[in-house]
Amino acid sequence: MAHPPPQKPATGRRTAELTESAPAAILGQTKREPASPSRSIVLITAQIGKTMTTISPAPFETAPGTTLFRTRGLTKVYDMGAVQVHALRGVDLELFAGELVVLLGPSGSGKSTLLNILGGLDTATDGAVTYRDQDLTRANDEALTEYRRFHVGFVFQFYNLIPSLTARENVAVVTEIAEKPMTPEAALALVDLSDRLDHFPAQLSGGQQQRVAIARAIAKNPAVLLCDEPTGALDSETGIVVLEALERVNREIGTTTVVITHNADIAGMADRVIRLSNGLIANVQRNEHKKAPQELHW
Ligand SMILES: Nc1ncnc2c1ncn2[C@@H]1O[C@H](COP(=O)(O)OP(=O)(O)O)[C@@H](O)[C@H]1O
Ligand SMILES: [Mg+2]
Repeated sequence: MAHPPPQKPATGRRTAELTESAPAAILGQTKREPASPSRSIVLITAQIGKTMTTISPAPFETAPGTTLFRTRGLTKVYDMGAVQVHALRGVDLELFAGELVVLLGPSGSGKSTLLNILGGLDTATDGAVTYRDQDLTRANDEALTEYRRFHVGFVFQFYNLIPSLTARENVAVVTEIAEKPMTPEAALALVDLSDRLDHFPAQLSGGQQQRVAIARAIAKNPAVLLCDEPTGALDSETGIVVLEALERVNREIGTTTVVITHNADIAGMADRVIRLSNGLIANVQRNEHKKAPQELHW
């Protein structure tokens, strides 16, 4: 008697769609570099001497309050041929395990550049950045890919969800390749979306889509959650609900969280506020009484 052919695993469809449409950062893939000859030479040179092949230990072994990241003289110059753009001019910074930091500054002050270097999406021109005493500036591409995949969650202004997958499936895409993930259902419960598991992105509001993106970022249990203007595309009411989700993740599972914004009103919810101006840290302030997101207004 003929047996029916084995069913194709559900992951096949997801993988195919992912390679087409998911941003590299979400999967921890290597950032694509422009294919100019001069750029290639720079990259080959930069790989020499980069020997670190793994980033250890696994997430969640850093005690709250201990230093998770340290940067010294962190410098980034974008060489645009005729002009050089000095995005970071020597940033000295500590980020402590478990804290919620707001990185505040006007457009062009270097916030995204700093976040991308911390997250292993970009590399510094000069200076040092360590993650748990491991030098990210000495990490090769393979080590950085592993670092992004297992240690870092990213949230961007635009949600980058896969339109043909439900909320649950969008989160599952990441949990399927993670080491110690939470279930998609648990991650979506943390952002208060248990009643939207089987909705497609087009059936969700902007704020709900951003909360799916947060669930996707935290489901792999990253040590750090890096958020670049997560409320930038949202009205204030919806933005506050998204900030509530971030605050809850930080409070309940202790994920070190960095939120970039140019909106000074958001600074009230941080443990610490780091102000960036023209590629340098202008000011670091600890909030003695941090506000709940519901108390913020803009
Ligand atoms: N990939 C890039 N190539 C060239 N210049 C860049 C690039 N990314 C950022 N810059 C420049 O670096 C500076 C800092 O940018 P960015 O880190 O994006 O600032 P922010 O996030 O605070 O708005 C800006 O002057 C910006 O134009
Ligand atoms: Mg930016």
